[in-house]
Amino acid sequence: VNTVNTSMWHYWKYFALGVEYTIGISAVSVVAGFLIGVLLAFMRLSKTKAIRALGTAYVEFVRGTPLMVQILFVYFGLGVIVNIPAVVSGIIAVSLNSGAYVCEVIRGGILSVNKGQSEAARSLGLNAHDTMYSVILPQALKNIWPALGNEFVSLIKETSIVSIIGVSDMIYQLKIVQADTYRGVIPIVITMILYFILTFTISRILKHYEVKMNAK
Ligand code: ARG
Repeated sequence: VNTVNTSMWHYWKYFALGVEYTIGISAVSVVAGFLIGVLLAFMRLSKTKAIRALGTAYVEFVRGTPLMVQILFVYFGLGVIVNIPAVVSGIIAVSLNSGAYVCEVIRGGILSVNKGQSEAARSLGLNAHDTMYSVILPQALKNIWPALGNEFVSLIKETSIVSIIGVSDMIYQLKIVQADTYRGVIPIVITMILYFILTFTISRILKHYEVKMNAK
């Protein structure tokens, strides 16, 4: 008798757990990655050469090595020193990775504000700090937002690679369901749809704020 339950509904809890993990990892990494990115952007725009060089080296190195290897490195490398759960390693690696991309988005946004803006602000008597915060950054944000949104959507998709260190995200669950049901394709299709629902929802929300910002 065939005791294998091939109904995908039967496995909804697996998919749900995967979605939970994917959302959790993405949410934490988006915030941490953003903060790292802001820090790196200011490093790369610093007047001190050594700080600039450090920021540049970080960004180049992170963007020049695969996220997959970075995840393995954080998990097994840090694992030698401290015993951290796979999911924490995954979050650390994805955040450090995203920071480099966010840095470039922010740096590009700041540099995209016409030089005349800061010259005008300075000649009107604003100091460097006020020029940055009340003149440059508000304008830069408009330019940064769409690219930052892309990065958030990419991040959700990129988290799929944490499954290689055994984090029970959507890809990990997909493989369990495939193995349990002997169904190769249907679980993949379901996973794709679930990812799409996540990314599409996020891009709609981001678009909403983009429109709002441009209306100002
Ligand atoms: N998948 C590519 C890699 O392995 C790109 C990673 C992009 N990461 C990001 N946060 N946008 O390096």
